[in-house]
Amino acid sequence: MSKITYVDEVEIVNKKILLRVDFNVSLSEDKTTIFDDTRIKESLPTINLLLKNNNRLFIISHFGRPKTRDSQFSLKIIGERLQQYLFNYKIILIDDFLHSSFVPPQAGLRQDNKKEIFLLENIRFYPQEKTNDENFTNQLAAFGEIYINDAFGVCHRNTVSVVGLAKKLPAYGGLLLKKEINAITPVFTNPQKPLVTIVGGAKISTKINLLKKLGEISDQLLVGGAIANTFAAANCQDVGSSLYEPDQLENARQLIAEINATGKKLILPEDFVIKNGKFLDIGPQSQKRFQEIISQAKTIVWNGPVGYFEDPKFMTGSQVVLDAIISNSQAYSVVGGGDTLAFINGKPNLDKISHISTGGGAMLEFIEKGTLPGIEALKK
Ligand code: 3PG
Ligand code: MG
Repeated sequence: MSKITYVDEVEIVNKKILLRVDFNVSLSEDKTTIFDDTRIKESLPTINLLLKNNNRLFIISHFGRPKTRDSQFSLKIIGERLQQYLFNYKIILIDDFLHSSFVPPQAGLRQDNKKEIFLLENIRFYPQEKTNDENFTNQLAAFGEIYINDAFGVCHRNTVSVVGLAKKLPAYGGLLLKKEINAITPVFTNPQKPLVTIVGGAKISTKINLLKKLGEISDQLLVGGAIANTFAAANCQDVGSSLYEPDQLENARQLIAEINATGKKLILPEDFVIKNGKFLDIGPQSQKRFQEIISQAKTIVWNGPVGYFEDPKFMTGSQVVLDAIISNSQAYSVVGGGDTLAFINGKPNLDKISHISTGGGAMLEFIEKGTLPGIEALKK
């Protein structure tokens, strides 16, 4: 059976390495500083292991969703943060690797100076990244003898730097990738029961397949956020001027029917915190019910805040969920997703959560499908 070989299972010494990471960090409100650099920190074990073995690194990442070159999405600020962690090395940002006289692959990579790490500018500055351009893949591949993927958070994207390079070069998985796969896999293969999943966030449309899958595997599926509003509307409840998706009502009805048919429990909020006709958080009764169910779980998966947590008046529901997860010391818990991470950032006792994933969409798709394009491409 083909499988991934990870960097700690082989000797990789003195090599030129293309290392794909996910440095798609969140910024502070004024967009001038990094708000949460977890994704950078989590990639350090792989980077340090490779450096220890005298390898030359060409680090590839995306940042945001630029369509083309756009200084707002430069990796400069990320390179500066990385520099703070790797102070014995010099991080050199390569503005345009396709047209750089500084590090053409044939120039011997300044082999004399092993203390340099090359960080290629945002890979999404090149539209070819997304179109899986063959020529572009070759140009990029020319920089390395080996490709390593430590970018779990973007493994659901079928692009050159995630999939194409893995097929072109000898390819290995990094330590973060290994940690994520090993931590999340038990949730959908062999969870201790009861498995309780909590899904919030804004849109049913982006999570419909995930909800189906969770409906199949969970003993209880708790739904909050604007997704719950769509379910409420599907149940013919008056949701006032709340955020919901009118074009998803039929999907929501079907989901309710499917999950109920399996005998599994879909738990929708029975009350809401309402302001100006808008449902903005799950209400006190629902908070109590969610708390009780979570406290009985043996496995917990949480993705998506259950209320409009950006306003402290409506963060209680999400806080109740977090507290219930932290207090349940018998359960194996996995938490992930961009908004969820933004919500829990800096809160105490996060070490009581078994696994906090660096993946948002990637984690959800991994649970839903059991694999991801970036993972498949590494299997040899
Ligand atoms: C993420 O933040 O979800 C990952 O970095 C992937 O980014 P993307 O959703 O823009 O592809
Ligand atoms: Mg995403």
